[in-house]
Amino acid sequence: MSEINPLENLRAIHANLETQDQRDRILVEIGQCSASIGAYKELENIKAQYSETHRIEVVGCSGACFSAPRVTGLGSLEISSMDQDFLDSQTRYVLGGIGDIAWDDIRQYISIGGFQGLAKALSVTSEEVIEIVSDSGLRGRGGAYFPVAMKWRSASSQKSDPVVLVNAEEGEPGLFKDRHLIEGIPFRVIEGALIAAFACGSEEVLIYVNAEADLAYSRLDVALQKCQNLGLVGKNVLGTDFSVDVRLFKGAGGYVCGEESTLINTLEGRRREPRLRPPFPTESGFRNQPTVVNNVETLCNVPLVLNFGPEKFKSNGTKDAPGTKLLSLSGNMPCRGLAEVPFGITLLTVLCDIGGIKDVNDLSGVAVGGPSSGILPIGSLDLEILPGVIDGKNVMLGAGGIVALSKDTDPYEATIHLSKYNAAESCGKCTPCREGAPKIVRILEDAKNSTDRSGEFKRLEMLAKTVNAASLCGLGQAAGNPLLSYLNHFSKEQGD
Ligand SMILES: Cc1cc2nc3c(=O)[nH]c(=O)nc-3n(C[C@H](O)[C@H](O)[C@H](O)COP(=O)(O)O)c2cc1C
Ligand code: SF4
Repeated sequence: MSEINPLENLRAIHANLETQDQRDRILVEIGQCSASIGAYKELENIKAQYSETHRIEVVGCSGACFSAPRVTGLGSLEISSMDQDFLDSQTRYVLGGIGDIAWDDIRQYISIGGFQGLAKALSVTSEEVIEIVSDSGLRGRGGAYFPVAMKWRSASSQKSDPVVLVNAEEGEPGLFKDRHLIEGIPFRVIEGALIAAFACGSEEVLIYVNAEADLAYSRLDVALQKCQNLGLVGKNVLGTDFSVDVRLFKGAGGYVCGEESTLINTLEGRRREPRLRPPFPTESGFRNQPTVVNNVETLCNVPLVLNFGPEKFKSNGTKDAPGTKLLSLSGNMPCRGLAEVPFGITLLTVLCDIGGIKDVNDLSGVAVGGPSSGILPIGSLDLEILPGVIDGKNVMLGAGGIVALSKDTDPYEATIHLSKYNAAESCGKCTPCREGAPKIVRILEDAKNSTDRSGEFKRLEMLAKTVNAASLCGLGQAAGNPLLSYLNHFSKEQGD
């Protein structure tokens, strides 16, 4: 009997796919954001002018949101030096291929190495796949940076069959990396999830997409059908014994839905609130089965680790934090968009070399890590992009949202804004968060015009620390962080 060779089977699939016409390509970058500012109209104009002479393809957005809607392939005119600098100053690993290949063209995806990570995974045992991922040091990119291999091993060692949940909720304001990955290279998300399922011994993958990310959902749907048609999803993937079912779900809406146990609750049709732990999801999660919840960016790293090896992955980043991180850059900077950087780079480099900021003195501060984190003053911008807390206190990288605040944005007002968001998104299940988060906002607002806020700040500090310490889930456990980081970094300098 001939040996099953998943790589050979992948090559055969690739060879059978229709080759495209050889005319010069014009690439129109379309994502949910660029669509809102006329990318489809631009596509129609390009088609009207060039469809006789060129192959016109819709690709995902390269991340240079500041120059959207972006078109390449029309000659040198359309590429500004700003675009080029923005792209050249990054380390594009997970973003590789986005903006270059048509988002729905599986042939092009396979041509750039797509599904080879899966084929290589299926050529070894599940345990060996976990070992390879463990060697890479890959940690989750959803904000908590938990080691991926450890999570997979825990789920695979349980008695019943695990389920893999792809967390594409991304409800946090200022974050757009996962939506961007799905829109730009949906096959990579699916491939990562398939490898995770194989490694954990799972035959079921559920992808939970933010309810408002319509384009991401529809592109995933198309990509999934293509994978099913080619035998990459379903029974006997690439001719092996591995069979897997992949389904898409729309999220229930709200920041807390991204919290893994809330996500599981809503998938089961239960209330939108977290579960008590233990048991942890890898022990008992969706339908009481062992459940691996992984972020989209995490899973997009996985095929690359399998295909190019752990050493290539570790060649970026630091010893303790290998790899790259996607950063969602917004606010007061010329080059707003999605960028990929190696861990260990400083915030200053990101803002100036990639974000295009000429003088950081034009800023009043930089909000890092969203509402669960806080604001840094410009004197702290030499801090490094690393997992977890980056200022030794309350500012965390989180999932990588970075908002530059203009000089006329008062960090105190921005702190109220972030605290309000946490209070509004509290699910109300536990008292410290339900009562404490809005109270932080009330005291901050009442103290706004007071000349001596030191008394209020003492009360606030105690309240914020109590909310963080006593809340049930990550939302409440970080709800005091914007305030605490304000007290750490701004209150003295503002005369409080
Ligand atoms: C309030 C809250 C919101 C969260 N939102 C997300 C989210 O949108 N996407 C995500 O991947 N993780 C989110 N997380 C983290 C998840 O609970 C979980 O740690 C993550 O999905 C695990 O994936 P990873 O190990 O690949 O990072 C959130 C956590 C909290 C507390
Ligand atoms: S911390 Fe907040 S969001 Fe989390 S369970 Fe408690 S009330 Fe709900």
